[in-house]
Amino acid sequence: MCGIFGIVSEEEKQLGSMLVEGGKRLSYRGYDSVGAATISGETIDLRKDIGKVEEVDDKLNLSELTGKRGIIQLRWATFGAPAQVNAQPFMDCKKEIVGAENGNVVNTIQLQELLEKEGHTIESTNDGEVCVHVVAKYMRQGNDMLKSIQLAYKEFKGDYALIFLNKTENKLYAIKKGSGLVVAVTEKESYCSSDVPSILPLTNKIIHMEDGDIAVIEPGKAEFYRVEDGSKVERETVEHTESMESAQKGGYEHFMLKEIHEQPNAARDLIDLLNDSKFVEPFVEEIKNARELYFVGCGTSHHACILGSYYFNKIAKRRAIPSLPQQFTEEYGNTLTPEDVIVFVSQSGETKDVLDALKFAKEKGCKVLGMMNVLGSTLMNIADVYLPIACGYEISVPATKTFLNQAIMFLYLAMREGGKDTAGLSELPDLIQKTIDETDEQCKELAGHIKGWKELYYLGYGITHPIAKEGALKLKEITYMHCEGIFSSEFKHGPLSAVEKDYPVAFITAPDNVDMMISHINEVACRHGKVLLIAEDNDVLQKYAESYVKIPKTSQTIFPILATVSAQLVSYYASKNLDLNPDFPRNLSKTLTVD
Ligand code: F6R
Repeated sequence: MCGIFGIVSEEEKQLGSMLVEGGKRLSYRGYDSVGAATISGETIDLRKDIGKVEEVDDKLNLSELTGKRGIIQLRWATFGAPAQVNAQPFMDCKKEIVGAENGNVVNTIQLQELLEKEGHTIESTNDGEVCVHVVAKYMRQGNDMLKSIQLAYKEFKGDYALIFLNKTENKLYAIKKGSGLVVAVTEKESYCSSDVPSILPLTNKIIHMEDGDIAVIEPGKAEFYRVEDGSKVERETVEHTESMESAQKGGYEHFMLKEIHEQPNAARDLIDLLNDSKFVEPFVEEIKNARELYFVGCGTSHHACILGSYYFNKIAKRRAIPSLPQQFTEEYGNTLTPEDVIVFVSQSGETKDVLDALKFAKEKGCKVLGMMNVLGSTLMNIADVYLPIACGYEISVPATKTFLNQAIMFLYLAMREGGKDTAGLSELPDLIQKTIDETDEQCKELAGHIKGWKELYYLGYGITHPIAKEGALKLKEITYMHCEGIFSSEFKHGPLSAVEKDYPVAFITAPDNVDMMISHINEVACRHGKVLLIAEDNDVLQKYAESYVKIPKTSQTIFPILATVSAQLVSYYASKNLDLNPDFPRNLSKTLTVD
């Protein structure tokens, strides 16, 4: 996910500071690199570099840029590594057009080859640059901007939003296909941006572009044309009454809920990336050649590592050892060899525990692989090879969508390692959506059953053991209750003594383990504990359940991913029942850079 923001003004002014402010409001969308360009007279001033918007502004003085029109782009790298050369915006060869993109033009490599044959010099591996050159190509053939964009559209495959400026017209040209883009018009200035909240401090009257619209935006007016035939269309102006923060939440009460609901799309983006990415093969190759394989991470990322090791065992028949970072150095430190491969897993890529273990493994000569969400993070920079989990920015402190994509990544890697066809994964985003739609009310109901309790056990068997741990972590994190997730067969070895009438125990069982789980449920049921269930629909389980979240029918390996989504919803509603804010639990921080 990237962010673009453009302004066109009646008068020449210091647009840079407005662009930087707009960029800051979009900074949740990307922070690998930032660039801004303004046009004064017929001169394009373009400045860009890696880093966050504040850092690049400090370095290159973006705020001082002047002109009548300008754009800023914040990048979340997908095409091309986060590097100055791949930062947006881009200019064409003759420096007549400047443009910036949010989204993915998936046939970039093919377009790049064609353009180079036609004499264009392409400097980056970024799709945004290719888009600018394609529009410039049609301009050179004598077409105006509108026609050139129409013609260029026929060449772009993928989902994207683009803003273009040229040096002769005081206008912004924008096209939307798949990615968000909105426009706002005021008397002396007009704006175009990836989202509504970034415009709200300037005006609350917003025009939502539709897919296939081209907008021609001037100070005081905006016109819209259909890309297929150039016909003019009217687009309604909507008055937004929400605050910037609530608009950023996209209508959801909390970021956590929004991020839970973003999971189908995040999964889709990841699966697309895995099918395309040149990053994948070196990662798969390193794993294949490993003598011993370790998956290392903290908290939620650790739970993804445990699930990963189940996937490797079940699907690839391959041992992978999941470990906490300090446990890794203390328990396995003296046995490591340079033939060992350590996969470090971290949403932030900045967790100190993880980075310490990473340095330790490097000193031992091991191959270190990184799996992270934040591109440009320390983990990404130090790892020999890395794979992004491509979730976009996760604002809420409890990790949700990043866990799911870590899990999907491990599932994918295990399938590759086991020589299995990964095509079936494309069904996963719809199954995640189905789980949200079908279980939301049931999760609310289950959360109601634990209200008033100060403790709870989540029990999982085999492949759902990490999901029980994750369900418990999510619940304790945002409800402050004591909650433990354990392997269900261990319950009778001690914790069972806690059970009394109505004591809540939540069982998460995958389809193949139902019979075994029924024995473990019986141990609780016969002591009058309260049996709560997250499982596929099953007549026998139904008899025990005081509350039952029914996961859509799927396979043993997909079930844990879907069950996680419901466990997240249970935690969310349990936190809401206590009038707590799940986004910012007390004492916790999104990125832990301390020992
Ligand atoms: C729980 C949570 C934490 C993190 C842990 C590791 O919801 O978010 O347990 O998973 O602090 O963080 P990363 O993945 O950034 O290394």
